[in-house]
Amino acid sequence: MALLSLESDRLEMPKAPEDRPMRSVRIGAVAISTDAEHALHLPSELPSLAIEPEWKDQQRLWGHSFHPMCSYLASFPASLTHAFIARYTRPGDVVLDPFSGRGTTPLQACAEGRVGAGNDLNPFAQILTAAKVDPPTKADVKIRLATLRLAWAASSREWNALADRIVADPGASDLLVPGPGSRPISGTPTRRSPDGSIPYRPDTSVSAEVALAFHARTLAQLLYLRAGLDPDDRTDRFFLATLTGILHGKSASYLSAVMPNTFSMAPRYVRDFVARTGFQSPERDAFALLEDKLRRLYRQPLPATRGIALLGDARDAGVRFREALHERGLPERARLVVSSPPYLRVVKYGYYNWLRLWLLGYDASAIDDLLDDAHHHDAYLVFMREVLGGLRSALADDAVIALVIGDVEMDRGRPASGGVGLAESVWELAAAPEGYRLAGIALDDVAANRKMTKLWGDEAGQATKLDRILILATSEAGRRRAINGAGLPIDWQWPPRLPRAL
Ligand SMILES: C[S@@+](CC[C@H](N)C(=O)[O-])C[C@H]1O[C@@H](n2cnc3c(N)ncnc32)[C@H](O)[C@@H]1O
Repeated sequence: MALLSLESDRLEMPKAPEDRPMRSVRIGAVAISTDAEHALHLPSELPSLAIEPEWKDQQRLWGHSFHPMCSYLASFPASLTHAFIARYTRPGDVVLDPFSGRGTTPLQACAEGRVGAGNDLNPFAQILTAAKVDPPTKADVKIRLATLRLAWAASSREWNALADRIVADPGASDLLVPGPGSRPISGTPTRRSPDGSIPYRPDTSVSAEVALAFHARTLAQLLYLRAGLDPDDRTDRFFLATLTGILHGKSASYLSAVMPNTFSMAPRYVRDFVARTGFQSPERDAFALLEDKLRRLYRQPLPATRGIALLGDARDAGVRFREALHERGLPERARLVVSSPPYLRVVKYGYYNWLRLWLLGYDASAIDDLLDDAHHHDAYLVFMREVLGGLRSALADDAVIALVIGDVEMDRGRPASGGVGLAESVWELAAAPEGYRLAGIALDDVAANRKMTKLWGDEAGQATKLDRILILATSEAGRRRAINGAGLPIDWQWPPRLPRAL
């Protein structure tokens, strides 16, 4: 996606060929594809909507302090979401994102007193979103950290001995470690089966690339935290999400220095790199770094409202959003959607997060098989039609829908079929047939050094210049609301000095 939000390491990424994204992406001018194969799908020129892309002028970390919890590929900046939340909603309104990623839209909506509800099919994304929109209090965090430290002091010898053996023989299949969440640490209100037992999570071996990524002392602490934290508990989930954000990176604030923060280098790259250079990850204290990161995350007050984070397919998110809102006694229909659907065959969220997924206990390739990030043009439009059709039941009569859609110009070095003008195609072949109204397309010329493709190096694809935001509505009233609100001035003060009211 065009507007990556990165905390660090932008210039430090090793360039192993296997670590580049599957395809290169380029968002070109508003030229429409002339690919004969898709002649029947040629979108016509659509009206533009003059929304000033002021979000680009804001500081990189504009928005609530929870946003930079963990880097996430193809996330958009919180300032972009604010431009729509401020224009098209009032406090108390529901704001949806069926592809919530790291939770940018729902978190910023909650921080502005709206009800932010996110959904994603990637469990890593759901954990990040849930941590942000349903966070523990600062006091809960302090108490839990103290408990974890105390319990660590009592059991560290055993974990250190286990980690020493793993690091001495990386990849040994007979050295088993407790599965994620399988050894609750005192005070964890762990999910239990009806008979009171803790659900069985098998012990597993640790792959060589995980063993090589950490110093033995750090690995011991991570094994302890991984086995002890419960993702179903609000505070523990926040800790796990925070740990994913500090798991790897090229400064002393990260637990492993073997790879950059933005995404995981390929497992084979890690093994080869260590063999070639004799690299050893420095010793890092997980509790100290966790505490530092938590302090940074909690430097602003908690978001004003609690939100919702669902795990599931965007195609049936509408029904699930309504159920979840109903259960909580909240308005069941949203007035705004701000979302960026998956790219056409670009990002592999499992592969590029394999080390974070190891921590959370998920299989990276299973996640890549699950997600809809590998579609070709036609299948993508069918997918988007199903998503938009399914969402309607959760939208208010005058709802506004902003979809950030990136073009894909190249696919494995060849022009991508129908990859340019994708926003226009989504309108004609996915949104219009589902009865949506078109307000227009807003253009966003993105600073070249912030484009995702640039991050993988110039060979991977040229930096792109334009992003398109397709702005839809559920009715004529919504369409007029979208058009009339486009020019409204926005208050960019953050944190707000006074509670915002529109
Ligand atoms: C471009 S990213 C969204 C990033 C988000 N705007 C943010 O700021 O973090 C697209 C998301 O779609 C998710 N995704 C892919 N297929 C999906 C599906 N069928 N249902 C729901 N989410 C899906 C991916 O896991 C990914 O998080």
